[in-house]
Amino acid sequence: MKVNGQDFKTVWREGASVFLIEQNILPFEFKIFESKNYIQTCLAITTMLVRGAIALEAAAAYALVQAFLEAPTNDLWNYVDKAKKEIEATRPTAVNLFYAVKRVYDTAKNSIDPVAASQVEAEKMVAESITATKKIGEYGAELLKDGMNIETHCNAGWLGCVDWGTALSPMYIAHRAGKKIFVYADETRPRGQGSRLTAWELQNEGVPHAIIPDNAGAHLMSQGKIDLMIVGADRIASNGDTANKIGTLEKAIAAKYFGVPFYVAAPLATFDLHCLSGKDIKIEERGEDEVLFQTGVDEAGQLKKVLVCSPGSHAINPGFDVTPAELISGIITEKGIIPANTESIKQLQLLFLGD
Ligand code: MRU
Repeated sequence: MKVNGQDFKTVWREGASVFLIEQNILPFEFKIFESKNYIQTCLAITTMLVRGAIALEAAAAYALVQAFLEAPTNDLWNYVDKAKKEIEATRPTAVNLFYAVKRVYDTAKNSIDPVAASQVEAEKMVAESITATKKIGEYGAELLKDGMNIETHCNAGWLGCVDWGTALSPMYIAHRAGKKIFVYADETRPRGQGSRLTAWELQNEGVPHAIIPDNAGAHLMSQGKIDLMIVGADRIASNGDTANKIGTLEKAIAAKYFGVPFYVAAPLATFDLHCLSGKDIKIEERGEDEVLFQTGVDEAGQLKKVLVCSPGSHAINPGFDVTPAELISGIITEKGIIPANTESIKQLQLLFLGD
């Protein structure tokens, strides 16, 4: 996607360096971070300089490539195995991160030139993810009719992927095709992925939108102001239960009550068939500072972190929740839109996923 007329990806690699759009300081500053080794890339993941399931997939794959490139030739696998564990320990919920590490590692392990193989496989995977997110956009755009108002939660746009987005990709394709759509972006406390990242993306693309407080969705639905909701996903269990950013579950319950179709958009890499239901999905607990403090710019344009809660109070900060499959109208994948149930996901597995 374009920023100031220039094409950008969220994450890319040049040799041993990984380049990442610094999402922590968007929308106030647009900066690129150059990570020179796998430890720096791990830190970029834990501090959420890069975040979003599909962007994490690329960042994790590239982190492992960095480890292969850094490893001493006489101790390659010890070095890489340690790096693999550290990358996998960065964030627990988005399955794409684990998918990427396993895919690159397994390919390298079965190759006579593991360092070269890791690079080829990582690039192949990232290219596939870009194609998948564009396809998700094309399938999802068929749901979007002229004049529709769509709500979305968190950031499931191109910043959360490498390009295009998952939930936002259909909106970009529909908008570029000339359909008049309006997007309500949930602000998504505590980190503001909606108010900071989704809103910034939509503005760049010229898609009409408004930021709404996290607790406004049900009210707008009750007034008939939301025609459809699309969210992304961090892990989809084999029965269709879906983990996504905290707050998604409340929206899905409200959508069901008010008869608003509620769609999840995700590539096949987000399905975790080892999880039989949402109960098997590990939910990340993040630090309380994300709730207690907010970062923004003051009148002078200076970036500041300020306390926004009662001093001395503690906070609890679950990063994700699980929406039961029965609340989901359909899952928009790169292979088409499927019902969120065991049979359809099994079918998808038989056709495309293998073991
Ligand atoms: O904690 P985050 O910002 O990594 O969480 C991201 C989400 O939950 C997104 O909705 C999800 O990854 C969408 S798919 C790009």
